[in-house]
Amino acid sequence: MSTGLDDTRSTAIYRRAVSLLPGGVNSPVRAMRAIGRDPLFIARGEGAEIVDVDGNSFVDFVCSWGPLILGHAHPQVVEAICEQAKLGSTFGAPTEAEVDLAEEVTRRFPSIEMMRMTSSGTEASMSAIRLARAATGREKLLKFAGAYHGHVDGLLAEAGSGLATAGIPSSPGVTDAAAAATVIVPWNDPEAVAAACALHEFAAILVEPIPANMGLVPPQSSFLESLREFADVNGALLVFDEVISGFRVSAGGAQELYGVQPDLTILGKILGGGLPAAAFGGSRALMEQLAPVGSVYQAGTLSGNPLAVAAGRATLALLDDEAYLRLAATTENLAAALREAAGSCPVQIVTEPGLMTVFFAEQPVRDYEAAKAADGEAHAAWCRALLARGVYPPPSQFEAWLRGHRLSRPRVREPLLIPTVIAIRWKLFAKGIAFITRRGFWSVALTRTLPFWLAIGSTLPGWKGWPRSAIWKPFLS
Ligand SMILES: Cc1ncc(COP(=O)(O)O)c(C=O)c1O
Repeated sequence: MSTGLDDTRSTAIYRRAVSLLPGGVNSPVRAMRAIGRDPLFIARGEGAEIVDVDGNSFVDFVCSWGPLILGHAHPQVVEAICEQAKLGSTFGAPTEAEVDLAEEVTRRFPSIEMMRMTSSGTEASMSAIRLARAATGREKLLKFAGAYHGHVDGLLAEAGSGLATAGIPSSPGVTDAAAAATVIVPWNDPEAVAAACALHEFAAILVEPIPANMGLVPPQSSFLESLREFADVNGALLVFDEVISGFRVSAGGAQELYGVQPDLTILGKILGGGLPAAAFGGSRALMEQLAPVGSVYQAGTLSGNPLAVAAGRATLALLDDEAYLRLAATTENLAAALREAAGSCPVQIVTEPGLMTVFFAEQPVRDYEAAKAADGEAHAAWCRALLARGVYPPPSQFEAWLRGHRLSRPRVREPLLIPTVIAIRWKLFAKGIAFITRRGFWSVALTRTLPFWLAIGSTLPGWKGWPRSAIWKPFLS
């Protein structure tokens, strides 16, 4: 299916891909099924933009689902990778750069005294859980509905991200024993956590401190503090999965932003600067239970890969305090523009620094149930309209917009307002039409849909009305 884009080559490649890769992709949410179209195949990226194989360019708000906080092909990151590639891509032996990276991570995250690197966030989650179970001598885990911690067997029930997007409640192939060891409670519900803690002795309370895999649903006031207390009373480890929030919402992640220290932290994405790297870490006492010091086994052929470490170090080197202030400000500007475009329409625009979700919902979204109740069709129509106008959004209501720094060229556009106005006003427009047909009150319908017509009109080549800039100015800061 196609919508307003020349995607001839993407379509041809997709036909080949579906016979070789399940769904034509190597990770489900790339398939774009939730927004009713086939995937676009990307040829290259530079700065904030990507270009597909048909030559369409987009401002990219996926940024490879988070790692590319500096945008695509950042010159300093590319240089670091190339320099390392000349020296060798992997040795299966330690390198000094891994130690440098670990120092930088421990400097940013006071709760981490030692860390162990892996190649993916999934591996890091799996390993952190193993360590938590070994350290506590317990099996059960508490996890939140709508949270995603990678495709770890025991954590797939009521998981967000691709499972939520595809409407998969829990994956076949997971053993009953693995599923039974996980207790799932609603996010932002301290009473449910208290009830679960009264019934079970947990090895870990596993939490995305800023959940971004059911859309962005930040913690309510004091919820993270209450999780710290519940974990302490229960004897469980508090494990923060900061694969998305780490290095994004602040230099020291959600734990710094919200002032709550976990026992273990899971990191990924930005840590590898666009190459495969992740890690988990915590106190020395916990981490030295890992082999070869302790007996909790964990390993990886490409863990701490030199190319990924080089990309990660180059990325973190550019993420200073000023960069975080800028990222927070540009995220808020974007959200403010969208809020203004939305006017009184029923959308919820939620932000944390560098993260945003637009829920097509009348009420604020506080948990997974509310996220699932949002209007997926309106969201899908909006995403298709964005793509047709040069904006690449996460193609799912259950993901966050992952903003990168606008580092490259000033020509980077923020044309979000147009499709936003169109999609959001569309509902009013449709209501207006219904009004017309039912009552015949044209004038009311026209008044209500005026912003829609202005938005459309001002995009036409022969537009002679108010200067376009006057209409769009509020959105272009
Ligand atoms: C919060 C969170 N944890 C873990 C993971 C798994 O990471 P990976 O895809 O690198 O396995 C993800 C992936 O998006 C994630 O968002």
